[in-house]
Amino acid sequence: MNMKEVLKGKLTDEELERVPRAFDVVGDVAIIEIPEELKRHKKLIAEALVKVNKHINTVCDKYGERSGDYRLNDIEVLVGKGTETEHKEHGCRFRVDLKKAYFSVRESTERLRIGKMIKPGEDVLVMFSGVCPSPIAYAKMQPQINKAYGVELNPDAHRYAEENVRINRVQTKVVPVCGNVKEACPKLGVKFDRITMPLPKGAHEFLDTAFEVVKKGGTIHFYYYDREDSLYEKALEYVNDAAKKAGRKIKITDKRKVLPYGPRIWKICIEFKVLQ
Ligand SMILES: C[S@@+](CC[C@H](N)C(=O)[O-])C[C@H]1O[C@@H](n2cnc3c(N)ncnc32)[C@H](O)[C@@H]1O
Repeated sequence: MNMKEVLKGKLTDEELERVPRAFDVVGDVAIIEIPEELKRHKKLIAEALVKVNKHINTVCDKYGERSGDYRLNDIEVLVGKGTETEHKEHGCRFRVDLKKAYFSVRESTERLRIGKMIKPGEDVLVMFSGVCPSPIAYAKMQPQINKAYGVELNPDAHRYAEENVRINRVQTKVVPVCGNVKEACPKLGVKFDRITMPLPKGAHEFLDTAFEVVKKGGTIHFYYYDREDSLYEKALEYVNDAAKKAGRKIKITDKRKVLPYGPRIWKICIEFKVLQ
């Protein structure tokens, strides 16, 4: 049976057409965006979703954009007990409470892409690391990594990061740090071979910190959101200006679309090498 068949007779044909077909699944939690005109049927829709997806125990309605420093979703539990779950991805396990900490299954391909680039012996810094999916994935993909540090502001996310490091058995490789990237990164006393900056709505404000802690010859992956008609313009301006201010010489080595964000808006990644 599919959702439409379960809901047939309970919703009008027109309403049935509007029931979202796509939703994110994190562990056993489904996150669906129920359109305004179907809100009065939200429980019915959630129950139908559980009925046709045996591995889903909780259904949440996402009713706003991510907000605040911690980039949290506004979600309401429609069916099920709670928003804490364990998600499995490429041989890693990530525990998270979706109401308390950021986690996105959509970033999985990007985690893999960067993970494949890491060479033996690298010291890697993931700024804005959430529950530490990226540092853990990197350490699993490149067991000869020296260390992967994850710096995160949200204490709840940090608590899950510590738990995730333990359950993935990467304690000797991954170092979760709770704090503001601006202050916490320079205090680590490490110069990094690679830095990722996955905070597309504000990473440019932390480029000065990235330049402070990157090694000569190191690589930085900088993320940003922009419109399709001027995709890389502003991001490149931020990167070039920050390099100039820091007195560093850089070479852009890649620029690419990572994920669609909205109509003709993309999350992008600018990759550059710090030559000196
Ligand atoms: C877009 S999320 C990315 C999380 C993680 N990289 C992932 O893929 O799951 C951004 C994260 O940065 C954290 N954050 C925001 N400002 C920060 C800051 N100044 N220092 C450290 N972390 C910060 C938020 O709490 C949030 O968890």
